[in-house]
Amino acid sequence: MMDFENEKNITIFTHPLIQHKISILRDKKTGTNEFRKLVEEIAMLEGFEALSDLPTEDVEIETPIETCMTPMISGRKLAIVPILRAGLGMVPGVLSLVPTAKVGHIGMYRNEETHEPVPYYCKLPHPIEERTIVVTDPMLATGGSAVDAIDQIKKVGGKQIKFMCIIAAPEGVEKLHKAHPDVQIYIGHLDRELNADAYICPGLGDAGDRIFGTK
Ligand code: PRP
Ligand code: URA
Repeated sequence: MMDFENEKNITIFTHPLIQHKISILRDKKTGTNEFRKLVEEIAMLEGFEALSDLPTEDVEIETPIETCMTPMISGRKLAIVPILRAGLGMVPGVLSLVPTAKVGHIGMYRNEETHEPVPYYCKLPHPIEERTIVVTDPMLATGGSAVDAIDQIKKVGGKQIKFMCIIAAPEGVEKLHKAHPDVQIYIGHLDRELNADAYICPGLGDAGDRIFGTK
C-alpha cells in the first residue's frame, strides 16, 4: 500500500472539528436531519482548505477611512460537481464559501454485485476547461465511482480537478491516485479497509441512504 501521508496530491485532514463531526456521522443513532447538517459542515471545513490556492488580485476599495488596494478572488471560476446522490449533501457547504460557483451533476450508482459504477447522468457547466472543479462524494470506497466521474470530466476538457470526500478506504485512494495523479484528493478520515461487500470499515454505512433517509 502507498504511503499516502507523503503524497503531495493527497491531503488527509486531522483538524479536531472535522474528526469530531465525522465521529457523530459514524454513529448509527445519528438521524437524517443531523447527518445532513454535519455533511454540509464538514464539506465547508474541507472546502476552506481545498480552496486555499484560489488566486487573488489586488483591487481598489474605498473604506470609510481611506482608499486601499486589497485582495479579491480572481481568475479561474469554480464548478462544484457532486456525484449523485450522496455527493449532493456536500454541495451547500462548498456553496456557502463560494455562492457564485456553478454546479454540475454526475449520476452513478454502484452495481451491488460487481461494485462497479453504473453512470446514468452527466451535466456540466460549459466551458468546463476554464474552471477549477471540485468533485464531491462523501465516500471513496473502491474508487470506481470517483475514477469514472473524473474520466467523464476530463473527456469534456476539465483540467484543474480536486476531489473531496469525508471517508476513504485505502483501496479507493490508491486507485484514484493511480488513475488521476494530477487530481488533488482531500480526505476527512482515512479508514481501515473495505469489507466483502465493498463497504468502508468502520465507515458510516450507506451515505446516500443516511443523507436522504431512504431504505
Ligand atoms: C456510494 C457513494 C459513492 C460510491 C463509492 O454511492 O456515494 O458514490 O458509493 O463507492 P466506490 O468508491 O466503490 O465507487 P451509491 O452507489 O451508494 O449511490 P447513491 O449515492 O446514489 O446512494
Ligand atoms: N458507499 C457508501 O455509501 N458507503 C460505503 O461504505 C461504501 C460505498
